[in-house]
Formats: sequence, structure tokens, C-alpha cells
Amino acid sequence: MERERWATRIGLILAMAGNAVGLGNFLRFPVQAAENGGGAFMIPYIIAFLIIGIPLMWIEWAIGRYGGAHGHGTTPAIFNLLWRNRLSKVVGVFGLWIPLVVIIYYIYIESWTLGFAVKFLLGLVPGTPADGSDPNTYLQPFKEFLTSYVGKGDELITPSPFAYVVFTITVLINVFILSRGVSRGIEAFAKVAMPTLFLLAVVLVVRVFLIDTGTGSALEGLNFLWKPDLSKLTDPGVWIAASGQIFFTLSLGFGAIITYASYIKKDQDITLSGLTASSLNETAEVVLGGSLAIPAAVAFFGVANAVAIAQSGAFSLGFISLPAIFANMPAGTFLGFLWFFLLFFAGLTSSLALMQPLIAFFEDEFGLSRKNAVYMTAGIVFFSAHLVIFLNRSLDEMDFWAGTIGVVFFGLLEMVIFMWIFGGNRAWEEINRGGIIRVPRFYYYVMRYITPVFLLVLLGAWGKEYIPKVLSETHWTVWVTRFYLVGLFLFLTLLVFIAEKRKTREVSCE
Ligand code: PFF
Repeated sequence: MERERWATRIGLILAMAGNAVGLGNFLRFPVQAAENGGGAFMIPYIIAFLIIGIPLMWIEWAIGRYGGAHGHGTTPAIFNLLWRNRLSKVVGVFGLWIPLVVIIYYIYIESWTLGFAVKFLLGLVPGTPADGSDPNTYLQPFKEFLTSYVGKGDELITPSPFAYVVFTITVLINVFILSRGVSRGIEAFAKVAMPTLFLLAVVLVVRVFLIDTGTGSALEGLNFLWKPDLSKLTDPGVWIAASGQIFFTLSLGFGAIITYASYIKKDQDITLSGLTASSLNETAEVVLGGSLAIPAAVAFFGVANAVAIAQSGAFSLGFISLPAIFANMPAGTFLGFLWFFLLFFAGLTSSLALMQPLIAFFEDEFGLSRKNAVYMTAGIVFFSAHLVIFLNRSLDEMDFWAGTIGVVFFGLLEMVIFMWIFGGNRAWEEINRGGIIRVPRFYYYVMRYITPVFLLVLLGAWGKEYIPKVLSETHWTVWVTRFYLVGLFLFLTLLVFIAEKRKTREVSCE
């Protein structure tokens, strides 16, 4: 069966940008930047973009296009093309496992943004105290609003029924778009969603910059973010956070860029297109993402309080502080609606990308029809998400193993397999074939030496710093999650070997 292809170059770039631009740009980036000292964070961040982000992006596009030309869109099969060793398939399972684990919690958070958008549109939101001087009392109503939505509990969580219904609807929206296919579904949607998203973000940024509280302004927030602070450059924690953000925001090390790239035509440009998609993501992140939650919080509460809000929880800046600030403005609930609608579109174009690897796997390796592959994948995701919805600590555990450390580990494997085992010269040719621009030769050395060594050091530092801390968490809810994650890995490995048996049987019957 013919594999699908992206219909147009602009569609490909927007779909790839949609893949990358997500909740990470507007929710995760501000928190990471604020927690790590603003200006101290941006220098490692920009360096990580140049020596991890851009080279790994080109590598993933090249690996994907190469796989697609041979009829495969996921890493178990593609790694086996690049590296004729049985181990390659098992290593490749990570390229299915990571996006699957991440989508399980990502799509739930995405559904909150839809739920909040609806609530703001209908005006079903709390008011804020008139006096904004104490951030704690000011934010309290919105803190409670979030808690009543997602529920709370030390072990079992009971979300509001509304949250559960909206979650189900969110999965169905994803299914609807995905079942239309790569070009008629994902690409067509990205062409509408991406321009809308940029427009919404610009409108909100302008509004944030018009904030004048009398005591503070959004410019102070920008100053906090953009004033270089060299004093923290020797702190490995800041480097780890910045590199982790580069992986997450550019969707690198997830296998998802590879799958999208497998629908590129054999000789179509990847050098310029890959660079363009990355630049769009960085614009959405540092220019737009960096000009919303932090500047607004700084204008209202000052730098120290804004940092404290960021530290008080991953969702405090985006789900509590910013909507509370908007709520106090004229047409505030509508601004809140625009904010959550922006987040929803950002999340949606990303969740499509996180689902696509498993869908492609079922299509390419099991010969399932597109619709059945989508239903199968969505069924697994919907079922698994119950862990995150109802078990406390499950989300964080998944985010750590798959979305934080797993991607760096997998990114390193991709680089070694492509640049060393497949071969540096072949890989270099593969990247540049059909390219509108030629990648500067300097990047050959970056890809072969600098980035792998950098990632290795990073993993070492990470392992030393965080793994013992995470493993010391022994609550039963965490153990249930860990068993489930291992179970998913074994399940996917089993599928990979069943697919292999099926293929050899097919070949011998011919
Ligand atoms: N890059 C997305 C974000 O910043 O939210 C997250 C993501 C989407 C990661 C899709 C991986 C992926 F395949």
C-alpha cells in the first residue's frame, strides 16, 4: 500500500511547527525560565538550541524521510534499516513508548485547556479580590477553581465530572482529525490552527504589555528574562533544565518528528524546512511564550513573587496567575477564554503528533487501515489516561521517565545510530540530499562529536542529581505507575516481534 505524503511544503512546515509548538511553549517554558533565574536560563537555553536542537532536528527529519522511503515511519523498523542488528528493534521500541507515555498525560492537560476555555467563555469563573497587593489572597479563588476542576487527594483523585467529560471529548476531537489522515487531517488542521494560534498569542501579548498597575509593568518581566546573568552559568541544574526544555519544546527525542518526517517525499528538502519549523517554534516560545505569563505576573506581583508562583507548581503561572490577572481587566473573562483557546490549539496540534507514531506503527507494520489504527491507539491512550486522572503522582512519574530523561537518552541513541553506526558520511549525504540550503560543514562535527558528548555529560549529571531523588519516592501510587510503564514497554516490544513474524510469514508465502 502507498504511504501517505504531505500535500504541500507549507503544509509540512506548519504541521511540523504544530507538532513542536505546544503547551510546552506557553506553560512549561515560563516556569522553567522563572525557576532558573530568568536571564541565567536564557544563555544555556540558546546554546542548547544551537548545539542540540538544530542538529538533532535535522537528524530526525533525515531518519524519518529515509524510513518513509522504505515504507516505515517508526523507529523499531527504521533503526533496523540503519543498523542491522536485532538489538536495534528493541532500542527502537523507545520511539513508540516515549510518545505513548507522554500523550497519556499530555492529552489530559490539553483537555483542561478546553474545559477552562469553555468555562471562561460562559463566564463561569470566580472573581478576584479588589486589592491585588498580596498575591496569595489574590490568587486564592483561582487556585480553588483549578483544584475543584481536576480534583484533589493524596492517593486517589476525584476530578469534577465536567473534567472527565471534556477529557473524553478531547480524545474524540483528536480521533476525528487523525482518522482523516496525514494530509487531509493533520496538515489541513495545522494550516488553520497555526495562523490562528499566532494571531491569538500576538493579541494577548499586546494586552499584557498594556498592563499598568501603577507599581509595575510587563517590561520589568522582559528585563528579568533577557538581562544576561552570568553568575549561574556554573550551576549544572540550569543547563539540565535548559537542555530539557529544548528537547521538550522542539519535540526531539520523542520519535514524533521522525514519524512526521516519514511522510516527506524522497528527495524533498529537509534542511531549510527543518530550520524553518524550528525557528517558528522558537519564535512562539521566546517571543510569544516569554511575553505572557512571566511579564504579566511580574507586572502585578513583582519578580520575587512571580518566581515564587512559578515554583509553587507547574500549572500555577498558566492556570492560576495569568487567568486571575486577566479576570481583573475589562472583558477579562473573554481574555481568559482567548488564552485557554490558544493553549488548546497549541496542545491539539501537538497531541496529534504524539499519537501518530503508534498509529503509523499499526498501519506500516500490521497493515491496519488508518481508521482502525487510530481507534486502536486512541483506545490505549484513553484507557491508560485513567491512571493520570485518578492517581496522584502518576503524571509526574510519567513526565520524568518519558518526557524528561527518556527523550535525552533516546536523542543520544538516535545520534549514535545515525552518525556512527549508519555512518557519518552517509548520514551527512542523507541530510543534505534535496536540500535548498546546505548544512554548514561545522555541523557535521557538532553532530558526530559535540552533541553526543554533551548529551552524555548531561545524562550523567542528570542521573546523579535526579534519579536517586525520583527513585526514593516509594508511594504505592508511584509503584503502580512504574509497573504500568514497564508493562507498556513489554507490550510494545511484543507487538514489534509479532509484526516481524507476520512480515516473514508474508514474505515466505509470496
Ligand atoms: N513540543 C510540544 C510542546 O512544547 O508542548 C510537546 C511535544 C509534542 C513533544 C509532540 C513531543 C511531541 F511529539
